[in-house]
Amino acid sequence: MTLPQQVIAGNWKMYKNRMEARTYLEAFLPLIDQTPAARRIILCVPFTCLNTFTEHTSTRIEVGAQNVHWQPEGAYTGEISAPMLVELNVRYATVGHSERRQYFNETDETVNLRLKAAQLHQITPILCVGESKQHRTQGETESWIRNQLDIGLQGVDLERLIIAYEPIWAIGTGDTCAAGEANRVIGEIRSHLGNHPVSILYGGSVKPSNIDEIMAETQIDGVLVGGASLDPLDFGRIANFQPLGAAIKS
Ligand code: PGA
Repeated sequence: MTLPQQVIAGNWKMYKNRMEARTYLEAFLPLIDQTPAARRIILCVPFTCLNTFTEHTSTRIEVGAQNVHWQPEGAYTGEISAPMLVELNVRYATVGHSERRQYFNETDETVNLRLKAAQLHQITPILCVGESKQHRTQGETESWIRNQLDIGLQGVDLERLIIAYEPIWAIGTGDTCAAGEANRVIGEIRSHLGNHPVSILYGGSVKPSNIDEIMAETQIDGVLVGGASLDPLDFGRIANFQPLGAAIKS
């Protein structure tokens, strides 16, 4: 049976210029020297830093963009296409992050178009899904996420996809979803997808202090980290997580 791959992904959002990215790499690369090779480390950085990363000689870090348009080119001011990313050797892109949905009106339908365009050009998209506080309070967490998946994943190949469960209320708030609850929702997502071994990550206030507990959960294949990925020491510690009870689990 194929097992989902472990993925430690960072999302820099709109932080760091090229010089800061170089300084970061110098500090970060030695920290992941001994990280088990089975852990895929991906950093999704601003468009202006992509080149800084892909030109770097390390093959240990894979580079992702934070969005991708569905057309290969065209009159879409401000957008970047999949072929443009591929030219820079970028092989990942987050799609449908809640900040894109909230501030830039991205819908499940445009998310679907972006996912398919990414895959068409051999970019592995990281689809972000998750509920708001209000959905959660009203008991709509599962139905909301199922709907995001049903529309977002139409015609999308699960073999070349990563999913991130990111409850909106836990993003950038310090209010982490309890590991057991994240595990439960991710289990629901997996069963909705017919138990396909797609990697499903948790995201939302992941930090050095909670990573070990999160990665000890059986359904969670990795993490998507915002704030704590900006500090090389913090992100290094996250990449080098030590799942609690690892001896029993593996
Ligand atoms: P956070 O962000 O780790 O700062 O909560 C997560 C994300 O937005 O992907």
